[in-house]
Amino acid sequence: MSRSLLITQISELVTNAPDGAAVTGSGCFAAIGDAALVIEDGRIAWTGPAGRAPAADEVVDAAGRAVLPGFVDSHAHLVFAGERSAEFTARMAGRPYQAGGIRATVAATRAATDAALRAGLARLAAEMLRQGTTTFECKSGYGLTVRDEERSVALAAEFTGEVTYLGAHVVPAEFAADPAGYVDLVSGPMLDACAPYCRWADVFCEQGAFDADQARAILTAARDRGLLPRIHASQLGPGPGVRLAVELGAASADHCTFLTAADVDALASSRTASPGTVATLLPGAEFGTRQPYPDARRLVDAGATVALASDCNPGSSYTSSMPFCIALAVREMRMTTQEAVWSATAGGARALRRPDIGYLAPGARADLLILDAPSHAHLAYRPGVPLVHAVYQAGQLAHPAALATAPAAC
Ligand code: NIG
Ligand code: FE
Repeated sequence: MSRSLLITQISELVTNAPDGAAVTGSGCFAAIGDAALVIEDGRIAWTGPAGRAPAADEVVDAAGRAVLPGFVDSHAHLVFAGERSAEFTARMAGRPYQAGGIRATVAATRAATDAALRAGLARLAAEMLRQGTTTFECKSGYGLTVRDEERSVALAAEFTGEVTYLGAHVVPAEFAADPAGYVDLVSGPMLDACAPYCRWADVFCEQGAFDADQARAILTAARDRGLLPRIHASQLGPGPGVRLAVELGAASADHCTFLTAADVDALASSRTASPGTVATLLPGAEFGTRQPYPDARRLVDAGATVALASDCNPGSSYTSSMPFCIALAVREMRMTTQEAVWSATAGGARALRRPDIGYLAPGARADLLILDAPSHAHLAYRPGVPLVHAVYQAGQLAHPAALATAPAAC
């Protein structure tokens, strides 16, 4: 049995505990003031008022800081080479976003060594951790050959258990005259090669990428090989992706920037079909492309489950920062600070169908962060400030390398 750890003098402990507030569209944000928690064997063993905390082997004094569940970044594209800052510069000068830029990253990724791709992944994973992300999903999608997709998912699996096969990102140039042939490849040999490394399959269902019939065929083939579906939907314009996600029982419809009333209804109604389809909003992409932000308020008010994620990728959203996404969601998408924090933690956990993370109550995995601020609100109130003081994963200090602890007073 490992040594128990008490973290005490917590000004605000965000628990998201399911037994707190009623489960509404905003989920169940819940917090305890002047709190403490105990970790044992990598799990939360106790939470409550600091004055009633049980004894433990070691003690960390949070000194009036807030403690939150670690961020769950349920949407990221981290296996790539090359960089596209010139595209970003051009967009900021008025050019529209075109998903065709993906092909530039495909060329650079195919030309990169495994070591270079691994180094890029390691750099971004470390960047995420320093900013409080304790679980992240990672997609392929910049290889688009059997070999390059397979090595993308194999590399991703070195860093996370939440690996997503995105062979259907765009039709690569060599298949421009034969998109049906590419769909056959993605739902056949490429899927067979990638499936052993993946939990999820995703399709970019958008004009210029894959239509609803193609997406349905690919995700159905993936489901037959044990992969669970998720969909890039309605990022660049209204389309069939959201309703297809709900039809297939996908864990998540991601982007949701251009929603129709029917899309909003479908997402809200899907909650009755537990576990339902989460609407994952990616405000970094709207920031990076100057598109309008998704209407989070409309989704929350309709009763949909909303997650926030970074969409970290070299084209539309080159941020790994969940605090930045929270700040955007609050300022630009009319989420309350509580809703945004819930969506970046428990919402992400729901989008990944992970009942063990996204909250801090007995039994949860002890993935948490200590914020250098007295409340969760500072994540939006102090945008751009590096507020993450320490991060624990499964009860182990993961960032920084060391933190003062005291042996328990006898
Ligand atoms: O989620 N939409 C598709 N994929 C990425 C963009 C990738 C890129 O531009 O390289 C996204 O925004
Ligand atoms: Fe994406």
